[in-house]
Amino acid sequence: MKQFILVIAILSGLLFACGGEQKPKPNSEPQVNNAPVEKPQEKTDSPEDLVLEAGKKVYDQYCIVCHQADGQGVPNAFPPLVKTEWVLGDKEQLIAVVLNGLSGEIEVNGETYNSAMLPHDFLTDDDIAAVITYVRSSFGNDAEAVTAQEVADVRASS
Ligand code: HEC
Repeated sequence: MKQFILVIAILSGLLFACGGEQKPKPNSEPQVNNAPVEKPQEKTDSPEDLVLEAGKKVYDQYCIVCHQADGQGVPNAFPPLVKTEWVLGDKEQLIAVVLNGLSGEIEVNGETYNSAMLPHDFLTDDDIAAVITYVRSSFGNDAEAVTAQEVADVRASS
């Protein structure tokens, strides 16, 4: 019996060694290429991913109604969050917009808006940091993260 198992083991070893190795790959590759496309996004839980996940939740709850799922806003009503000076520029100013809201005439990507956004100072420093970090790295934006400490500093000074 032991010998039999040994023979099987050697045979299958040989199979893999000479060319058999190549066969399982084309079969398993589509799975590797297709299925995990979603999996890494769900399963990786690096600190950055967790922040972005948390940020998306805050966005979906508190910002999406006006600024929309794609961050494009609504023409003449709600400004976009895509590559705007407010979003990509000075972090303190951006934190202040979320904390304190914004009203009066502003220009965003060449369009004028004259409306009002309410304060969101009821959100925690962590939530504000997460949503800003999410916005700054979504919708085609690519700007540095904002930390809860930076939010706390702006909150303390405003
Ligand atoms: C009720 C609608 C509404 C909600 C909810 C809202 N905003 Fe706004 N937001 C506005 C309006 C209106 C302005 C422009 C205010 C003005 O005209 O002065 C604005 C302006 C901004 C700006 C600066 C201009 C720009 O587009 O770059 C940023 C950044 C921003 N909002 C981010 C957020 C974030 C982040 C949230 C969620 C935490 C949020 N807003 C929630 C309506 C809203």
